[in-house]
Amino acid sequence: MTSPLLHSLTIALGERSYPIQIGCGLLADAASFVDLPSASAALIVSNSTVAPLYAQALRAALQQHYAQVHSVVLPDGEAYKDWQTLNLIFDALLQNSCDRKTVLFALGGGVVGDMTGFAAASYMRGVPFVQIPTTLLAQVDSSVGGKTGINHPLGKNMVGAFYQPQRVLCDLDTLQTLPAREVSAGLAEVIKYGPIADMAFLDWIETHIDALVARDVHALAHAVRRSCEIKAQVVSQDEREGGLRAILNFGHTFGHAIEAGLGYGDWLHGEAVGCGMVMAAHLSQALGLVDEAFVLRLTRLIAAAGLPVRGPVLDATDNAGRYLALMRVDKKAEAGAIRFVLIDGPGRACMRGADDALVCAVIARCCAA
Ligand code: NAD
Ligand code: GLY
Repeated sequence: MTSPLLHSLTIALGERSYPIQIGCGLLADAASFVDLPSASAALIVSNSTVAPLYAQALRAALQQHYAQVHSVVLPDGEAYKDWQTLNLIFDALLQNSCDRKTVLFALGGGVVGDMTGFAAASYMRGVPFVQIPTTLLAQVDSSVGGKTGINHPLGKNMVGAFYQPQRVLCDLDTLQTLPAREVSAGLAEVIKYGPIADMAFLDWIETHIDALVARDVHALAHAVRRSCEIKAQVVSQDEREGGLRAILNFGHTFGHAIEAGLGYGDWLHGEAVGCGMVMAAHLSQALGLVDEAFVLRLTRLIAAAGLPVRGPVLDATDNAGRYLALMRVDKKAEAGAIRFVLIDGPGRACMRGADDALVCAVIARCCAA
């Protein structure tokens, strides 16, 4: 049976170019896996939540292409995005005598995708891998663009590699089993693309936010496609984040401070990014780059997506100081100076610093009393 493929686009990176396929029923369809590098073995990497839902269907499809289909099931959660869990993937590869042609299949959200990509980048100095993202966040962001890695106890995503997948398969059916909170978290990354790149897309998201929250498949298909198109355009111009790619981190500087300050796993990444975008919009306004109407519009949309719009208090005695300290270890910081992604006109982002006093005033305005 041929799956109803809704959209296919390409991320243009010369010899590292690859397709992003968006549709229903993709992971169970053997046709999704034609023309991948030939190999005798495949390894499905998933986690204890996603594997029981989808690994069997994927295995049946892969068995049409590979003599051996192995699998490894990782513990679920951001807390396990570490060396110890990464080693489980290498254990599975070595215990099954997997050679350097073995293809890895990442079946799960961004945590599984980032770790599988990093394992693929380093096993025998590089084996092919395919992203099969099963969260909205992973379909619109993390599975595309080749950022892979794990967390270090001293910093999130601090150890990793740029390593592009062979293909990204966004099976929209998988989104129907996601917890509602995870759908909202993914919508933060969808909304992000509007203010940084495409105000017409922001208009569309506003009109369809209820359909997106309700997981209407046509709305999801458009949101995933347009998000991937924008990300593909940005990554094609700046694969290794020499400059432009940093705009994809709108909301992430404040967001990472929230995640790190509360302890990873308290707020979801997308929740922290949603609130971080509100804070970055306020900072943009404080610098005279956008008007109040823009800030209110973005805040309303983020709230309608089911996301928090007030920052948490990270320190009862010196909240702004705590935010600043956490933001200084952001990967975009240069020599300890924080660099923010700000909106400098509707649909346009820029990178710049700001006086601590201004940032502190924004934090005071945006955080819950
Ligand atoms: P996640 O991978 O932890 O998934 C969220 C939860 O949903 C998990 O409990 C997972 O098991 C569950 N789940 C996944 N698919 C499901 C499904 N179809 N049905 C039911 N449950 C399902 O989180 P995420 O939001 O997908 O990804 C966040 C991670 O992505 C973070 O580690 C972040 O650093 C990373 N990230 C990477 C990039 C990148 O460019 N590489 C970009 C953004 C985020
Ligand atoms: N999620 C930001 C990036 O891929 O660059």
